[in-house]
Amino acid sequence: MATRKLGDNTTTDLFSPIALGPYALKNRIVMAPLTRARAPKGVATRLTQEYYSQRATAGLIISEGLNISPQAVGYAFTPGIWTTEHIKSWRPVTSAVHGDGGRIFAQLWHVGRVSHPDLQLGGVLPVAPSAVRPDVDAFTVEGKKPAKTPRALRIDELPGIVADYEQAARNALDAGFDGVEIHAANGYLLDQFMRDGANQRTDAYGGSVENRIRLTLEVTRAVAAICDGGRTGLRISPLNTASDLSDSNPEPVFTALVDQLNDIVLAYLHVVEGVTGGSRTVEGGFDLNVLRQRFKGLYMANNGYDRDLALSARRSNTADLIAFGRPYIANPDLVTRLERGAPLNPLDSATAYGGGDEGYIDYPFQAVKAPV
Ligand SMILES: Cc1cc2nc3c(=O)[nH]c(=O)nc-3n(C[C@H](O)[C@H](O)[C@H](O)COP(=O)(O)O)c2cc1C
Repeated sequence: MATRKLGDNTTTDLFSPIALGPYALKNRIVMAPLTRARAPKGVATRLTQEYYSQRATAGLIISEGLNISPQAVGYAFTPGIWTTEHIKSWRPVTSAVHGDGGRIFAQLWHVGRVSHPDLQLGGVLPVAPSAVRPDVDAFTVEGKKPAKTPRALRIDELPGIVADYEQAARNALDAGFDGVEIHAANGYLLDQFMRDGANQRTDAYGGSVENRIRLTLEVTRAVAAICDGGRTGLRISPLNTASDLSDSNPEPVFTALVDQLNDIVLAYLHVVEGVTGGSRTVEGGFDLNVLRQRFKGLYMANNGYDRDLALSARRSNTADLIAFGRPYIANPDLVTRLERGAPLNPLDSATAYGGGDEGYIDYPFQAVKAPV
């Protein structure tokens, strides 16, 4: 009988260990990044610690998006990773996860134009590649408010954005995270630069595909130099139109990006397949398997996976790791439930964002069956 070796990346099982960067993950099941908007002071709390530690049986946890700077903030009550207080607040969380045998990466987030002056220091306009207003509501402390036309970043400000990601990566390691995931998905700043609907620049960061992927690559190289040895992941959502993002032709953008990523030592490429939280197929989209084929490192798939789809993706080897979002909100013991083929707790969407314990740390674990 074949034995499972720790870190044997050739098996096609969902529940077998896998080597990711310097780590041997227990299984290939990942907790996707999930903003829960329960950080009124921008810091992690005892509840945050309890919530993540309940989910430490995942092969890897990716934290909710952590704002990399005051300018990066786009949603009220979301945590940051730019001050000493932020760093200190995350240490008990990461050590609790480690104490429970888990691994946790920090997701680094800059929302770009998906913000509001109410959320910006001094009430200034949010920044973006170009002054193109997204037709979305921002989530301020006072509730939803329509986004305003952002201020286009000057080219001499872009090294400062890269530096903010670098400092946030240093801070994340200092807070005990095992690595970081750069958020280049879902219509936020890096995604805005990659798409011609939001990026109308005429300098070295706009126009051609090569120019539009430049900032994402600069950030990824800089962060990977800090979180070296394969402790940096990158999240993209090539077919997503969230936050009013549009792109005349995403395929060449993302194939060019992936080709360049192959020269950087990464932990993984995380691909949201389809519309985030919606349909896995998109009219006029392209076959994302092209990215799986081109990328030489680990490929993490997300969006609408259930047990059957995850097992089938592993059997057909269309992904190395599967990230679960909504199922992880409602099922702290998701790994055990998937292993047993047990039913899942339903999600209570009303408590997804904001609030306290309810819908956060009180989802039930499956009762352990008494031995017969
Ligand atoms: C409440 C909630 C919060 C989310 N927050 C984030 C986030 O902070 N960063 C991110 O990249 N995606 C975020 N997402 C998207 C999820 O990571 C995931 O892509 C999406 O839920 C689809 O996966 P699923 O079908 O397994 O739920 C969020 C989704 C939900 C439902």
